[in-house]
Amino acid sequence: MNDLPWYVGYFSGRHWLKNVDYSIDDVVRVIEASRDLKNKFYLGVETPYLKGRTLYLIFYNKSLRTRNSFQTGVFQLGGQGIYISPDQVYAPTLPEDMVPYQTEAISDVARVLSRYGDGIAVRIYGDAAKWIIGRGHRVIEEFAKWSKVPVLNMEDDLYHPFQSLADAQAALEALGWPKKLLKGRKFVVSYAYSGGLKPLAVPQDVALMASMLGADVYIAHPPGFELLDEVLAKVKEFTDSWGSEFKVVNNMDEAFEGADFVYPKAWSPKGFFPPFSRDSKVHKEEAMDYQSKFRDWITTIEKLYEAGRPYYMHCGPADRGQEVSDEVLDRYDKSLYFNEAENRLHVQKAVMSMVMARVVR
Ligand code: CP
Repeated sequence: MNDLPWYVGYFSGRHWLKNVDYSIDDVVRVIEASRDLKNKFYLGVETPYLKGRTLYLIFYNKSLRTRNSFQTGVFQLGGQGIYISPDQVYAPTLPEDMVPYQTEAISDVARVLSRYGDGIAVRIYGDAAKWIIGRGHRVIEEFAKWSKVPVLNMEDDLYHPFQSLADAQAALEALGWPKKLLKGRKFVVSYAYSGGLKPLAVPQDVALMASMLGADVYIAHPPGFELLDEVLAKVKEFTDSWGSEFKVVNNMDEAFEGADFVYPKAWSPKGFFPPFSRDSKVHKEEAMDYQSKFRDWITTIEKLYEAGRPYYMHCGPADRGQEVSDEVLDRYDKSLYFNEAENRLHVQKAVMSMVMARVVR
């Protein structure tokens, strides 16, 4: 195909495990490529940049947005996405957990799929990663170690890179694509109550993304919901490099005050899970009991108005009546909830075009 846009094959052959493996400029390039693909999608312009290519999608967990935006996206690029459920193959497994004729070493799965197709995308966290924080990410790194084709992280227990790229695009679009990116904007990543146990991936990745783009970053959570030290250190490094503020507070209303963007969502208190738990064991019931003390960490229209009407953000699925009121999702005019979901399609098409295409220019 002639006249390929600049981004096709730009990162040919590279994995996408987390955004911080790339520079701030690279992240902005992805969002620019995503904007181009979104415009073409709206105009009905065909984008067959991955004609004949195949992406394998391995989901150890459920998904609406991620699965459908990836499969639809690779199809719109002229390729195909093949869904793999670990319980319908010999489950791809780390060496220490092998069970004869039920599992298959990730090292072997990755090399087999590399001989057929052009990319392997993986989602794994929570029960599938035994609730050992960091184990899901280790699984994805194991795929990347052995795969000869790009590996894409569709969310593990530490990072959700395509979510935060989509979020960044939604936030920048809401502001009219400012030259200064998010510099001078207050961006709040806040805990919100849920009756379920959710991973650290989204708050960590979104805090990293907001800091990469120059925002003043506030993280709000009750005691016990601290993000990983290495993530906080990286957020500080980025905010320092921009001369932006970085604060962690234990009060949702204080954090919301005067914010430009609020991103309130649930995650789990890490002290109940290895390697952070007192006895290196998993304590799911205790974690649920503990987090049930924080039901008042819900986002309502009243809270948003009191804060000064910030943009509301959430990766979805949001737990209505727990993380957020129905009214915010259904009627708040500054909710970016569906824009974020929409942009998953376009940022993923951008990264797939960048890493999965082999282009000789
Ligand atoms: N935000 C997100 O990853 O949604 P799904 O769990 O539906 O894929």
